[in-house]
Amino acid sequence: MKAYSVHVPLLLMVVITAGLLATTSCKHTPLIVVIDPVDTTGMTDPTDSIDTSGWPCSPDTAYFTDQILPILVSNCAMSGCHSATNPKEGVNLTTYAKVMSTGEVKAGKLSGDFWESINSTKPDKQMPPPPAAKLPQDQIDLIRLWIEQGAKDLTCNPGYGGCATSGMSYGNDIRPILTSSCTGCHSGSAPQGGIDLNAYSSVVSLAQNGKLLGAVKHEPGFVAMPPAGNGLSECAISKVQAWIEQGMLNN
Ligand code: HEC
Repeated sequence: MKAYSVHVPLLLMVVITAGLLATTSCKHTPLIVVIDPVDTTGMTDPTDSIDTSGWPCSPDTAYFTDQILPILVSNCAMSGCHSATNPKEGVNLTTYAKVMSTGEVKAGKLSGDFWESINSTKPDKQMPPPPAAKLPQDQIDLIRLWIEQGAKDLTCNPGYGGCATSGMSYGNDIRPILTSSCTGCHSGSAPQGGIDLNAYSSVVSLAQNGKLLGAVKHEPGFVAMPPAGNGLSECAISKVQAWIEQGMLNN
């Protein structure tokens, strides 16, 4: 028994020293940025009310409402360009009927002003015009598919049969929504509304101050986003909400 009473203080010293060492060795800049969680009390389960009917989105088909219109709105329909109010040269790119009534989309044919301008690199022809960048190749490819398939007004439901919202990934789930529907306006040297949605940090601050969800859910007190077209699908909105609730990880 005596042996124990001698060793207890010694043991304590060892434990304390080890503890101190461990704390000091951890004093470096944390690799993971700690984000204040968003208060989600009172929010409904995002997947509760989702419409899961309609048509599934086939990867072999281009859907005007869900894929092509968001690209046109985000890259062409900012105010002063091809928006509904005072559209430049009368070209309003905010609805299917308006897009087709320009006469510049040739169904089934990769020709005409519409196709040529999004593919051009000539400063006086390129659309969107410089200093805006050309559309990303995957968006041009989608527009090509849409024209080749007859430039139809097709709709699908991204939430058909159910909308997966568990384990949301910023890179795989949220970024694609922002790139197809938002960053045409919200990026570059002079982003619309001073908001750059290419930057993860600004997406996080907009999520924290409630503006991101308020805007995409078209809630009162927020400017509805995107400003034209049908808005994000219910499934896309639920994914954004779930990502926020899951801690807005940069994963
Ligand atoms: C056609 C251009 C355009 C597109 C596309 C667009 N925005 Fe905006 N956005 C704007 C403009 C312009 C403002 C500033 C509006 C104002 O202050 O009146 C703005 C403001 C906002 C705001 C602040 C809203 C508020 O109430 O203060 C948020 C958040 C936002 N956009 C998010 C988005 C998201 C997310 C998307 C994609 C789903 C998107 N925007 C698509 C042009 C656009």
